[in-house]
Amino acid sequence: MSYNQTQTDSTPYIAHALVVDDDAGLRQTLSMALRREGYKISEAADGVTAFKMAQNTPFDLVITDVRMPGMSGLELLQNLRRICPRTLVIVMTAYDKKELAYDAVREGAYSYFSKPLNLSDLQIIIRHALEKQQLQHKLDSLHLKLIEQNTFPDMVGESQAMQKVYTAVRRVLDNDITVLITGESGTGKEIVARAIHNQSIRNSHDFIAVNCAAIPETLLESELFGHEKGSFTGAVSRRIGKFESANGGTLLLDEIGDMPLSLQAKILRVLQEGEITRIGANKPVKVDVRLIAATNQNLPELVKEGKFRQDLYYRLNAYPITIPPLRDRDGDLPLLIKYFVNKANSAFGRDCIGFTSEALTCLENYLWPGNIRELQNVIQRAVLLADKPLADVHTLIEDIQMAPPRPKQKRTPPPADAISPTVPISENDTQDINAIHNKLDEIFLNDNLNFHQKVDTFREVLEQYLIRQALLECDSQREKTANLLGVTRKTLYSKIKQYHIDPNIDNEEE
Ligand SMILES: Nc1ncnc2c1ncn2[C@@H]1O[C@H](COP(=O)(O)OP(=O)(O)OP(=O)(O)O)[C@@H](O)[C@H]1O
Ligand SMILES: [Mg+2]
Repeated sequence: MSYNQTQTDSTPYIAHALVVDDDAGLRQTLSMALRREGYKISEAADGVTAFKMAQNTPFDLVITDVRMPGMSGLELLQNLRRICPRTLVIVMTAYDKKELAYDAVREGAYSYFSKPLNLSDLQIIIRHALEKQQLQHKLDSLHLKLIEQNTFPDMVGESQAMQKVYTAVRRVLDNDITVLITGESGTGKEIVARAIHNQSIRNSHDFIAVNCAAIPETLLESELFGHEKGSFTGAVSRRIGKFESANGGTLLLDEIGDMPLSLQAKILRVLQEGEITRIGANKPVKVDVRLIAATNQNLPELVKEGKFRQDLYYRLNAYPITIPPLRDRDGDLPLLIKYFVNKANSAFGRDCIGFTSEALTCLENYLWPGNIRELQNVIQRAVLLADKPLADVHTLIEDIQMAPPRPKQKRTPPPADAISPTVPISENDTQDINAIHNKLDEIFLNDNLNFHQKVDTFREVLEQYLIRQALLECDSQREKTANLLGVTRKTLYSKIKQYHIDPNIDNEEE
């Protein structure tokens, strides 16, 4: 099974590797040995064929010769990094061409080994590589579970900006305070209003949304408050308005900035007295409705211009929730892309697994003026147009293909309490793969850690495991280990020190 597919914890993990070598004898020997280990193996006799295969199949691992006619192993590696950066690559070189292997590791290869092949050594490296993939998969699935735990159904996003929204939503669930949701078009104002209703005690009653901008002024009052038979020309029978229909539940007044002033006064009265009067009726009717208002307009500006009542604004603004634009949701874009790709696959019966790195860069550069709604439409189109499992740049609209690179944002450091996890990580926890799985589960279930602490602790466990395995593999030679991990010697030293992997390190020169 590949990391791109969904896997439940009980499904056996069958890794899929591609063996690339123009030497048919060697390729077949290696493939046979790996098949015996239980892996799914595909073969390619040259780099060009391998690259074509990788465009259609998300391999966990590619094991490639370096010197081949046409596309060399190094070129294949560079191309794979571009289209499927999470596929691990192991290169094979002749013993006297080790510098090629170091180049490959610098270019992002997971590891290398020399010919003639020592099959048992090779099997160990491959086992480690696939364990790393398995761990990554485990992290991904725990990460997804964490996201589900932290947010609301149908609301994807775990950025700091969205965490603030979730906290604000959670605080308002148990009371009936009026909520004003603001945010640019397509940011998810309605979905947040629905989340408030669905998670509140009112969820056994209706959630009703009225778009104040879409209904002509003359009809809006009757739409909201209802009317008695004969109360105006055309009122042929009594009609219940949205306030009464939403009794016991929640009423969303969407695009409230477009509500006419005359009606604004009536809404204020409902809020103050908890009752409405149908048009043409003599007596008011009690209504028990949680009111939520939403707008993408600047209400204080409308108040200044005399287009919105100040008293109603104050009343609605009792509990404001501002939804951030997509461009400010640091880290949410990949999650939303995955979510909408899955949705589009189910809707259209497609089998897209994501975007090439080039396409992802374009999606990340674009500023998304239409926010999540625009993203959803763009992904649907791309999934429909994609003729390979990974959708490429040509499936994107021109504005997105041409989006200029965004200036790098400075990351603000996490708050101090998010840095030091309260889960001690011992050496045993990070030495064997089963212990790692248990540790990750333990962190996941630890209620004392918040979301960011869990993510940071996952990372620490994984880093320690990878460093210990790499040191073992390289007989504790630091230079070789750093090369294998693709980090500088300095980084390796500071991590060994940070995790107390080698107690003698303080005495060594850094
Ligand atoms: N966090 C999210 N996760 C997943 N889907 C989302 C999220 N936020 C919004 N959407 C989806 O994006 C689309 C637009 O959301 P919504 O209608 O709530 O936005 P809006 O702010 O009310 O837009 P408008 O200002 O145009 O009325 C919907 O299809 C919604 O399901
Ligand atoms: Mg809306």
